[in-house]
Amino acid sequence: MHSETPKIVFDDGDTYERFMGVWSRKVGKHFINWLGSKNGNSFADIGCGNAAFSVQLDELCSPKRIAGIDPSEAQINYARKLKFNTSTDFIVGDAMSLPYADNSFDAALMALVLFFVPKPATGLGEMTRITKAGGVIAAYAWDVFGGGLPMEPLHSILRERGIKYPLPPSKEASQLNVMQQLWEDAGLEAIETTTFQVERTFADFDDYWSVNSVGPSVAGVLKNLTPSTLEEIKRDLRKVLKRDDTNRIVSVASANAVKGEKG
Ligand SMILES: C[S@@+](CC[C@H](N)C(=O)[O-])C[C@H]1O[C@@H](n2cnc3c(N)ncnc32)[C@H](O)[C@@H]1O
Repeated sequence: MHSETPKIVFDDGDTYERFMGVWSRKVGKHFINWLGSKNGNSFADIGCGNAAFSVQLDELCSPKRIAGIDPSEAQINYARKLKFNTSTDFIVGDAMSLPYADNSFDAALMALVLFFVPKPATGLGEMTRITKAGGVIAAYAWDVFGGGLPMEPLHSILRERGIKYPLPPSKEASQLNVMQQLWEDAGLEAIETTTFQVERTFADFDDYWSVNSVGPSVAGVLKNLTPSTLEEIKRDLRKVLKRDDTNRIVSVASANAVKGEKG
């Protein structure tokens, strides 16, 4: 067994789609609604991944442009193959240093990304720089400290067994008070925060396991466990998962969000 905790990696657009892409879109629709984005806007989707959120912007906001950027070449390649109604450009790059001109977007958004950026304040500074005056800068992230990660039931069992698993490197930035402070320090105006709770159902345990065991925070951990430990974990998980009245598994997650305007 390896003693080092594997890192969270995003290197497969299809697998991401089955697990996190579905979750992302569940929060994404609330987030877009909360932003009240106007049709015809230009959006920067920072940390766009496989474009799960860009697709929603395209469908729900009829934008004039979506620019997506992400360090994962595999995710960007997946995004480039998708069909959009609007003009899109997906490039490999980093939120810490955005290759866009000052004041060039109506909104700069991060969907499930702020807590992955090594220095969230630097990433936020870049989002602010590329946004036009009066534009929106906003982000949401799973509520890591409030038990809001979709993987929380499995994480909790791993914790009980002393098995280490990775969390986003800047997880502190997933907290509402930290988000509020970051947005204030960036000089943004009309700042608001909120929390979204979302739910996903699975037909049965096999369905739940096939999707959740490939999640980026656990896939690397699970493959290093012995078959008997893995079976024990599955047994424990079966006991704690919630079920609805038709015996389907109901999984809940919550995300914290922040928005502000550039003065
Ligand atoms: C949970 S995924 C979210 C992807 C997409 N926004 C969505 O809603 O499905 C986190 C993404 O952040 C990206 N990421 C990690 N570090 C980053 C950085 N420094 N700059 C930009 N994106 C980053 C990862 O490659 C990954 O695609």
